[in-house]
Amino acid sequence: MKILHLDSSISGENSASRALSAAFVQKLTAADPAAELIYHDLVERPLEHLTFPEFQTAQSQAVLDEFNAADTIVIGAAMYNFTIPTQLKAWIDRVLIGGQTFRYTESGAEGLAGSKRVIVALARGGLYGEGSAQQAFEHAEQYLRAAFAFIGISQPEFVIAEGLALGDDARAASLQAALASVVEGRAAASARLSLEAV
Ligand SMILES: Cc1cc2nc3c(=O)[nH]c(=O)nc-3n(C[C@H](O)[C@H](O)[C@H](O)COP(=O)(O)O)c2cc1C
Repeated sequence: MKILHLDSSISGENSASRALSAAFVQKLTAADPAAELIYHDLVERPLEHLTFPEFQTAQSQAVLDEFNAADTIVIGAAMYNFTIPTQLKAWIDRVLIGGQTFRYTESGAEGLAGSKRVIVALARGGLYGEGSAQQAFEHAEQYLRAAFAFIGISQPEFVIAEGLALGDDARAASLQAALASVVEGRAAASARLSLEAV
């Protein structure tokens, strides 16, 4: 198994998403000690914002090649201003490439990367669950689900720690529950999203 592990929080060792993505990778490598692991800290070594010349660089090609070669992708994502970090968006800009990970046909778009497993460890300061006041402001999980569905990965798994800005107790409880769900293998592949639904 080839695992690609990415982190995108700017908070270093205080980051919940980094702790959760690391826990998930630890679980995967414990189950398969022969797994090949590639790690990128997208904050430490950021990709450039996308330009047309950037599409042509060896680095952009390498990002796409790495994604194509991976069986499992584990992504640590923080919610910033209701969506994902720009560092992670820059990575996605190298991965959603026409003719490579999706293509347009006469009947619409077709994802070409469907065989991969994607696990997202997402950390949010507020609460965005079903029925919450801020539900409509959620563009991190929703965006990632749509982006991966577009390339054929209709069931990315999410482990989410939220309410992390609501005080020390709320933060500790949320993080502990999310870590427990990783340990127990309860990351949720809920809300199947397919191209038809996008
Ligand atoms: C610049 C910045 C913007 C943020 N924007 C939001 C936001 O829009 N909604 C939210 O719920 N939390 C927001 N937060 C809180 C983070 O989502 C929260 O701290 C989370 O734990 C970040 O993930 P991390 O712990 O992996 O760094 C923001 C934090 C920062 C630093």
